[in-house]
Amino acid sequence: MKRIFALTIIIISVFAGRAQTFEELAPTPPMGWNSWNKFGCNVSESLIREMADAMVLSGMRDAGYEYIVIDDCWQISRDEQGNIVPDPERFPSGMKALADYIHSLGLKFGIYSCAGSKTCQARPGSRGYQFQDARTYASWGVDYLKYDWCYNEDQNPKAAYKTMSDALKECGRPIVFSICEWGESNPWEWAKGIGHLWRTTADIRDCYQCVFDWGGLGVLDIIDKQVELWRYAGPGHWNDPDMLEVGNGGMTEDEYITHFSMWAMLAAPLMAGNDLRDMDESTKMILINTDVIAVNQDTKGEQARRFMDMGEHEIWAKSLSDGEVAVCFLNRTDKPWNLNYDWKKQTMYFVRDVNIRKNTYTVYDLWQHKTIGNTDEILREDIPAHGVLMVKLMKK
Ligand code: GLA
Repeated sequence: MKRIFALTIIIISVFAGRAQTFEELAPTPPMGWNSWNKFGCNVSESLIREMADAMVLSGMRDAGYEYIVIDDCWQISRDEQGNIVPDPERFPSGMKALADYIHSLGLKFGIYSCAGSKTCQARPGSRGYQFQDARTYASWGVDYLKYDWCYNEDQNPKAAYKTMSDALKECGRPIVFSICEWGESNPWEWAKGIGHLWRTTADIRDCYQCVFDWGGLGVLDIIDKQVELWRYAGPGHWNDPDMLEVGNGGMTEDEYITHFSMWAMLAAPLMAGNDLRDMDESTKMILINTDVIAVNQDTKGEQARRFMDMGEHEIWAKSLSDGEVAVCFLNRTDKPWNLNYDWKKQTMYFVRDVNIRKNTYTVYDLWQHKTIGNTDEILREDIPAHGVLMVKLMKK
């Protein structure tokens, strides 16, 4: 008996202390903050520390945000041994000290590099230095790497990302690998097992609907490119429709609610991209909506599917692990949508656990945080221009 007890203790402690394998690092979509959307190249040690502090003080850490990621421009050169050198003026205490500080707050630390010879802002890239860089990141305490695709000099994308993936797998520290290849070679078809998330489009812009010549695009334009990608997402491997613009000032509150709701529905990584030190009530209300975050972080890891496309109006559904379902009514237009919806006529054929014809479900509004009816009744709601109604159908 004593022996069995001792053996059990050993087994439990081995498992508790076991390092996570690469495959286990992102069981739900990563959540955090990244410097690029708001600050571009204007990054520094003080900014990053303040952002980490704000993530805690604002309640974002407690809502699930975890990674603080420095995007481009932290690196300045390589030394004689080829080691990557952080900008000493902007990061005078060095990356290890910054990582230690972020870890002391219960958060994780992310960094950025590029598969090309240079980063997109022409800083040194990792091409030819992948294993050396991965070891350097591990020695600093890095937990997350975003890896870009500028100056790629016609490399094969799968091979280029696999090289860095192999380097991370061997560096001795668990590091989440975020592939930023902009969806050019359909990374969803090859990136599972190489990285944990992969960008599906060019860069997001802080607008509801807009497309730039160089490829940048708005929220609605990005959503349109996710429709067919649901089959590639799941625990440990996520489509990444780019970081959040919530709070950056280019959209209305309803548009930001649409942005956040749809990213949650799409099981997208939720990387805030605003100034966390200076958030108005509306921005906080959106980023810290734990009902919506719970849909995003659902352990089943399904990406929502659009099951009704009526042109100007769409309905999306995301099946959840508790046998329930999140439904999002999206009003693309600049006029309110006077919704008059008969649940009994729904055709969420892919949501197997929910049978609306047979059972009655409570309709819970995830933004108003209250029950607004049940599936035996017609749903009547006014959805604002460019807005959504996001609900969860709950068992009675
Ligand atoms: C690319 C990426 C962006 C950002 C910048 C940095 O454009 O797609 O997300 O990292 O580079 O230069």
